[in-house]
Amino acid sequence: MAEDFDVTPFDVEGQVDYDRLIDKFGTEEIDEELKERFFDLAGDENLYMKRDFIYSHRGLDKALDEYEEEDGFFLYTGIGPSGKMHIGHIISFYFTKWIQEKFDVNVYIQVTDDEKYWDRDITDEEIDKYAEDNIREIAAVGFDPDKTFIFRNREYMGHMYDGIVKIAEKINNSQAQSVFGFEGSTNIGMNFWPAIQNIPTFFEDKRCVIPAAIDQDPYWRIQRDIAEKFGHKKTAAIHSKFIPALTGPEGKMSSSKPKTAIMLDDSPEEVEEKVKKHAYSGGGDTLEEHREEGADLAVDTSFQWLRNLLMEDDERIREIAEKYSSGEMMTGEIKEILVEELNEFLQEHQERKENADELVQQMMYDGELAQEMWDRNIDLELQR
Ligand code: TYM
Repeated sequence: MAEDFDVTPFDVEGQVDYDRLIDKFGTEEIDEELKERFFDLAGDENLYMKRDFIYSHRGLDKALDEYEEEDGFFLYTGIGPSGKMHIGHIISFYFTKWIQEKFDVNVYIQVTDDEKYWDRDITDEEIDKYAEDNIREIAAVGFDPDKTFIFRNREYMGHMYDGIVKIAEKINNSQAQSVFGFEGSTNIGMNFWPAIQNIPTFFEDKRCVIPAAIDQDPYWRIQRDIAEKFGHKKTAAIHSKFIPALTGPEGKMSSSKPKTAIMLDDSPEEVEEKVKKHAYSGGGDTLEEHREEGADLAVDTSFQWLRNLLMEDDERIREIAEKYSSGEMMTGEIKEILVEELNEFLQEHQERKENADELVQQMMYDGELAQEMWDRNIDLELQR
């Protein structure tokens, strides 16, 4: 049977069936037992994982074993600077920061000012502008400035290139074509790209753990094929679902459609207008129908965002679910709540971004980890 959805690192089409995606990609569900163990070790619960927005993994159990055995792990994630960031982009970073805080580990953040040049119709000037902006957004998340290294590939490349050369030799065209769908017309930069996205998984001898949406998983499949050839551990990954566009459950939120995305620099008025105008409602078409049938929570953008991303209070979200699905609460009311919660989140984030200069400088150049990284040459050795 042909799938009615498709997920690649470059695009998401259709309404994703997340359980089927686990089978298709060959990943594992984060079940209640693993969740409990993770929260126990963290000494706290995480909202996104508690609500199953972060729902799938590879090798997280192994990373936790090693953490308990004191071998530890490190974190890696990234951003492609091809536009301003929306709320979907920043969730992985907030989750990564949460893990850093709870487990006291290093974080590496790759800014792909090479990938986006190859993959998009975009100039160097635009990439520079977006890279600077995106880095400020990421610094605003609140990572530990002495344990976090943010690097732009074109700037840091000389320190990674020996290792990338070794990885590139181990990936052939058939793999790149079958894993990423590259074709004859794909430029050769993109063919080389998987080697570059994989090098940070080798930055330390410990196991790498990568929080990202599940679209990035194909890269980690390649890493897991080759890591042991270099005497390194297979990377672990923790996968989130996608935040859909405001307009409904198909596809994913995208900066190229800013009207249906909540951008991190949106003003309270813009948020209100977008939510009221575009947030897809699972409520009935008429008042009568709504009172009778209630809302379909599974497709209702406002409910899903509140539940998955914003509302910590279990009791309150349970109450909203009950009232909205029974038709007692109206779409207008839940949109009001979403606007309020979103604006609170964005306001705090924007304030931190305003004051991020010093943090950017530390995470890129002056902090302890950054200084260490600028002194290093990352190379790999085949275990013959
Ligand atoms: P990019 O810039 O497309 O996306 C950055 C991060 O945001 C996630 N993401 C989303 N998450 C939830 N809902 C959405 N609608 C949504 N859209 C994007 C992505 O999964 C990603 O985690 N090639 C990468 C950059 C990269 C990277 C990495 C990402 C380099 N190394 C390591 C993750 C981990 C890219 O273009 O991401």
